[in-house]
Amino acid sequence: MKKQSLIIDCDPGVDDAVGLMLALNAPELEVLAVTAVGGNVPVSATSRNARILRQVAGRTDVPVFAGAERPLVREPAGAGEFHGAEGLGDLKPFEPQGALASGPAADAIIDIVMARPEKSVALAVMGPMTNLALALRKEPALAARLGPVSVMGGARSEGGNITASAEFNVWADPDAAAEVLASGCDVVMFGLDATHQVRATDARIAAIEAVDSDSARWAASMMRFSQRVERKIVGWDAPPVHDPCTVAWLMAPELFTLKPCDIRVETQSDLTRGHTAVEFRVAPGQARHRWATAADGQGVFDLITETLKRAAS
Ligand code: BDR
Ligand code: CA
Repeated sequence: MKKQSLIIDCDPGVDDAVGLMLALNAPELEVLAVTAVGGNVPVSATSRNARILRQVAGRTDVPVFAGAERPLVREPAGAGEFHGAEGLGDLKPFEPQGALASGPAADAIIDIVMARPEKSVALAVMGPMTNLALALRKEPALAARLGPVSVMGGARSEGGNITASAEFNVWADPDAAAEVLASGCDVVMFGLDATHQVRATDARIAAIEAVDSDSARWAASMMRFSQRVERKIVGWDAPPVHDPCTVAWLMAPELFTLKPCDIRVETQSDLTRGHTAVEFRVAPGQARHRWATAADGQGVFDLITETLKRAAS
């Protein structure tokens, strides 16, 4: 089996944690590094959480790099109410065994991708796009060298989840998102239109709880936490599980419907900051990006459950 090489850029974060558990347990993927960014919680916490999560998954072989503490231009924002003060729901963080790898995340992305064959390394971005934007500023040739950049971010038909217009990851660092989308990277965006179709129902969480492994227990605990928080704050019974979509697509693209388009990000207006303008009226062959319009929610959960099951056996 030819493995897909992958770097995961994330801000764990309860749904990032599920995405990491999926990727780190998938034999189809070669996770070359995890890079952390400030987002849901500060980077000191997201980089520690990434190290905790790789340890729980038994993957201390995967290096973790810390990245940007703050967005390119804006003040840092957090989403601790949806992820717990430490970013891991109600699980208590501990000091993980392995240290951080040396050097900033942006340099790690450049070094890894530029040293490997063109288009061979995919990047799954589960948080604000600051690390990738910094890497592209330093090494513009990265855009053509990278394989698909599978991003959780943006909203079109669903409206926003942090403001009426914007989804959290793009809102948190709209300037970085705008730079990445203008860079020539092959960006595939999984916004709320798709991720709101991937919901952690009781039955789906229970199927993961039935798998006897630490990875499964942690993934399920994250979703139980989200379930309680979403019930309280949003009134939803089954919370959307956003970030794993970026990994699921790399493993099973048939679970998603993608449409060629051109995406731009609002950076000027305070009112609509971080809005993703997704334009489908693009001349054939001219589309720079792809936008996920639909997701097979049960299929994504089956993929997560089966991957964790196989790894546990
Ligand atoms: C995104 O925002 C974060 O809070 C989640 O981890 C996810 O990446 C959803 O809008
Ligand atoms: Ca995230």
